[in-house]
Amino acid sequence: MKNVLVTGGAGFIGSNFVRYLLEVDSRVQIVNLDALTYAGSLENLKDLPDAKRHIFVQGDICDRELVPTLLHQHQIDTIVHFAAETHVDRSILGPEPFIKTNVFGTFNLLEAARQVWLAEKSLPLEQVRFHHVSTDEVYGTLKPNDPAFSETTPYAPNSPYAASKAASDHLARSYHHTYEVPVTISNCSNNYGPRQFPEKLIPLVILNALSGKPLPVYGDGQQIRDWLYVADHCEAIYLILTKGGPGETYNVGGNNQPPNLTIIETICDLLDEIRPQTQSRRKLIQFVTDRPGHDRRYAMNISKIERDLDWSPRHNLTDGLLETVQWILANPQWVAAIQTQREYQTWLTKNYEKREKSS
Ligand code: NAD
Ligand code: DAU
Repeated sequence: MKNVLVTGGAGFIGSNFVRYLLEVDSRVQIVNLDALTYAGSLENLKDLPDAKRHIFVQGDICDRELVPTLLHQHQIDTIVHFAAETHVDRSILGPEPFIKTNVFGTFNLLEAARQVWLAEKSLPLEQVRFHHVSTDEVYGTLKPNDPAFSETTPYAPNSPYAASKAASDHLARSYHHTYEVPVTISNCSNNYGPRQFPEKLIPLVILNALSGKPLPVYGDGQQIRDWLYVADHCEAIYLILTKGGPGETYNVGGNNQPPNLTIIETICDLLDEIRPQTQSRRKLIQFVTDRPGHDRRYAMNISKIERDLDWSPRHNLTDGLLETVQWILANPQWVAAIQTQREYQTWLTKNYEKREKSS
């Protein structure tokens, strides 16, 4: 791995991965292709370690000319594909960009890899790799006593977001099976940590709680996610790139599975401790109309990556949440840049205004 194309590297996980890769591997050069949608920000790429090994290109993964040009120009041997539309609620209110970016964009990247690596034989096949970053949501939802999702659980995506990611996974898999593009796939559970866009539950709750705004809980708040600190996800991806076999899929998860309401209460208690005030922030909790088609429970069986690549999550939820809160408190300029984005304010109104509220 010498010349790495990271897609979506100005977003939450992608920017954490760029930072991680520059730190752990002094040989790599990174080309970061990101369209800078509402979810991407150059704020996320400030103060990179050894920044001269990082080139940022603003562009769309759906661009049929740009992607092969970048592969040629930078002799890319490794693609790590994060770029996507990622927010379930947005996919419910407007699915089209999800189909374009997640399905067509992934297809376009795979086609470019096939053309440049296989047809033109730009590099020896054993030196190239396409890693596709995906989600646990492709597996659908679990009942309380169902076993956790494994790599062989049948796909049953429930939201337009999950369906578009499932389609992209199938394409990635097929490019390995049919053309022998050296593809790996990871399906990961809910990430949290520094630089997460505050449309997602954890940063939204931290920022709302800090400014005394309501903390919206969808439905009864008893839905369960398998929370993973973002640095642990980055480490898992690096191990898959360096030790994982082409054609393999790995489930990645945090073994942290409290219901949403408990997460929100924990954040309130953490903030009450760090920034005490007269009334507990739990008073801000507000139950609101549920998300349509809301998946009840996710859980990941991570025994394959534990066994084959010797990876397991390093952060428990308490430490990870504390680090996330501390990062947000230490980075007011990041918060201001994201929060003052007009698109973000429009989104908050669109998503929350019409939800019925109860205490
Ligand atoms: P994000 O929404 O924070 O960032 C997505 C990035 O992709 C942004 O920088 C955006 O500008 C860029 N992008 C969007 N459309 C693009 C396009 N057409 N061309 C180029 N760039 C484009 O997302 P994230 O939470 O960092 O997720 C990254 C990846 O990880 C996604 O593929 C997502 O499905 C997957 N994933 C996320 C989670 C999670 O909890 N956040 C969990 C599992 C898997
Ligand atoms: O499981 C992995 C997925 O996790 C990723 O693939 C997605 O890209 C990522 O967005 C995330 O999806 P979720 O829908 O689980 O994340 P979100 O933060 O939007 O919601 C987490 C849970 O919290 C979910 O059960 C819905 C609930 N929720 C969310 C918001 C925004 C609320 O109760 N209130 C809210 O205001």
